[in-house]
Amino acid sequence: MIIGLGNQEPGTRNTSAETRAESVPTCISKHTINSTAQTSLSPASMTLVDSFSAALAHREAKSARRRLTVLPRTAVDFSSNDFLSLSTSSAYRERFLALLNNTPPSFPFASGGSRLLDGNSAYAEDLERFVADFHQAPTALLFNSGYDANVGVLSSIPQPGDVILYDELIHASAHEGMRLSRAGPRKIFAHSSAAGLREALLAQMAEDPKIAAGSRNVFVVVESIYSMDGDVAPIKEFIAVVDDLLPLGNGYFYVDEAHSTGVFGPKGAGVIQELGVQDRMFIRVHTFGKALASHGAMVLCGPETREYLINYARSLIYTTALGFPFLASIRATYELLQTGETESLQRRLQQLIRHLRQQLAALHTAESVMFEVDHFPTSPIISLRTSQPRQLASFCQAKGFVVRAIMPPTIPEGKERVRVCLHSGNTEAEIDELAETIQSWLNQSSTKISKL
Ligand SMILES: Cc1ncc(COP(=O)(O)O)c(C=O)c1O
Repeated sequence: MIIGLGNQEPGTRNTSAETRAESVPTCISKHTINSTAQTSLSPASMTLVDSFSAALAHREAKSARRRLTVLPRTAVDFSSNDFLSLSTSSAYRERFLALLNNTPPSFPFASGGSRLLDGNSAYAEDLERFVADFHQAPTALLFNSGYDANVGVLSSIPQPGDVILYDELIHASAHEGMRLSRAGPRKIFAHSSAAGLREALLAQMAEDPKIAAGSRNVFVVVESIYSMDGDVAPIKEFIAVVDDLLPLGNGYFYVDEAHSTGVFGPKGAGVIQELGVQDRMFIRVHTFGKALASHGAMVLCGPETREYLINYARSLIYTTALGFPFLASIRATYELLQTGETESLQRRLQQLIRHLRQQLAALHTAESVMFEVDHFPTSPIISLRTSQPRQLASFCQAKGFVVRAIMPPTIPEGKERVRVCLHSGNTEAEIDELAETIQSWLNQSSTKISKL
């Protein structure tokens, strides 16, 4: 057994999980479908729906098929992104319901259209100012989700010929935005590696003299905390690389703070404000569907960028804006952050993280069983790496704990794991029981393996 509690080791140089996911159905030729899914249909008689079934069977065979699941409400949550347990907090509920109830009877609860038509309101604009002030940003622009924000911004902001350098583990939505973008080269760099960023940037500079001359823009796209590995990006090291190689100021940082919002930084403002480098970020994306128990996302940026997005970000323009109940729920959580009411939840979460680390460090198993804990010290996301993630997850689920096996294509091949997320509302007793359950599974698995 290897139990390592240090930083996550850099990932492989695979293309993004979701990009790889997309490639499966489209690259299956009829011939491949027949051989991999072992269907009796001749290629000519394959219908569209048959090809879906074959693609699904192909995933099933690779243990990669996704399914919707509903777990019992009594199960203990070690899986959701509700890190501060705000979704069940009475303080949040009361504030949210008060905002809903304090509107006049005729106040529209539906937005009625796109932000650019009837979906805008003084309430939405005031919320944007409130969130921008909280995050010490010049302005904020509300999108319907983090997915929409990443797609809308990355597809429209980089200009033709611009360079995008992105961490190999960035989220699928950022990949989707980059795919739609008019940028020139889009180059991957090794996960959270400042040396990798330097190498990728130097390679582009060697190809395009406009970069060193300052007339070609370079976007560096990272997350502050990675959703699957839970590690915090070395933002200051990245800034040092960009300052060194692009002193003329044509390097622009794009940071997705989806998983740090509410959890890290002063009053939960995120990693960037914790580091005090907010002025160095060109764009920050904060999403509200995780620790903030709501929905939607804000893009923090300068006023010209905001105006540009209002004109060019298609995922903002061509969709119905969030209605008042969502705006009120975002307002309710940001008021809780602003008043410092969530700070005790942040502290409690850190206590529980320390407790779980201790429990996991005490686990033991036979040498023959691959089991490794990957964990960044203060992160609520913990990876239990094993060659049998589905078995471990099912064992824990049967004992009443919600944990999930994370398989390729969501993560690179060879990085299978059970993802454990901690929440302020978890208890030490629940953590102890989870650790005991993992220990029982390890004991049982060792026995099984040693019998082979
Ligand atoms: C890093 C990251 N960015 C963006 C998103 C998308 O945000 P949303 O769920 O609000 O669409 C997610 C997760 O869903 C995420 O993990």
